[in-house]
Amino acid sequence: METSALARRLAARFVAGDSLADALEAGRRINRERISLTLDHLGENVTSLAEAEASRDVYLRLLGEMADQKIDGNVSIKLTQFGIDISEDACGRNVEQLVRRAKELNSFVRVDMESSEYTERTLQLVTLLHSQHSAVGTVIQAYLHRSEKDVETLCRRGIRVRLCKGAYLEPAEVAYQAKAEVDRNFVHLMKILLAAGTYPAIATHDEKMIDETKSFARSRQIAPETFEFQMLYGIRRDLQRRLVAEGYRLRLYVPFGKAWYPYFMRRLAERPANLAFLARNFFRA
Ligand code: FDA
Repeated sequence: METSALARRLAARFVAGDSLADALEAGRRINRERISLTLDHLGENVTSLAEAEASRDVYLRLLGEMADQKIDGNVSIKLTQFGIDISEDACGRNVEQLVRRAKELNSFVRVDMESSEYTERTLQLVTLLHSQHSAVGTVIQAYLHRSEKDVETLCRRGIRVRLCKGAYLEPAEVAYQAKAEVDRNFVHLMKILLAAGTYPAIATHDEKMIDETKSFARSRQIAPETFEFQMLYGIRRDLQRRLVAEGYRLRLYVPFGKAWYPYFMRRLAERPANLAFLARNFFRA
């Protein structure tokens, strides 16, 4: 898939390009629309420490280039890309180097949340690095039963949280299965975060979740500068523009790089209409 020209064209809807230069160009374009960004160099589940170090080096370059070019953005990483499956210690050292650099540059590292087998280890590493360097935060998935406790702990420690619904297939023992339950928990966690969190990020394209967030903030007189909305590159651009016009802060999650297949498949799985889009383009080509 990753080398097919057709598939690549389809993925371009969700991915900013193959190279670091493409990502920075997308960043400048997005900033012109008064939207900030977080860059994701695609790639997960690396199989050697050399690959993990190469990932870290791309992110170090990204932070430097964004600072030099005055791009309003930070980075999002995955621990499986930084080598957690090979060596937790080596992974920790790789992430620490990046967080240290982010702090020097007055930037920030967001550690994305992957499937539930990584939740505990991700929270532990982020908590440790935050206590040493502060320029790091993580993600909480509203579909997990454990998330309320995790949100409370992260709020107490002043660690920045991005709240999302959750993108991995999880069993009923650990995660709510029905959309209504996930949505209810999302709203519940959003309220805790807005009231007690440190600059929380509400990451969703769901207008109901966004409206609940706006009205909760209004009712509690929580200033729009104290939190941000986040959305994925290429999804609901109409909603993105509307939020910015209304004066809310918005950050786009911008993936780039050659290894886009798993990311692309998660985006397709989220929405049946995307499969129709894929099929339409496939038969047209
Ligand atoms: P939901 O899936 O209910 O969709 C609501 C509406 O949004 C849809 O009706 C449609 O209009 C639109 N929409 C949603 N997804 C779409 C798509 N793929 N294509 C087109 N339209 C779409 N997950 C995770 O497990 N770990 C993480 O670290 C992150 N990080 C992250 C960062 C940011 C900035 C965002 C926005 C999301 C994530 N996610 C994530 C993904 C998240 O968990 C979730 O899978 C998606 O955001 C889809 O959920 P929604 O909240 O948009 O609602």
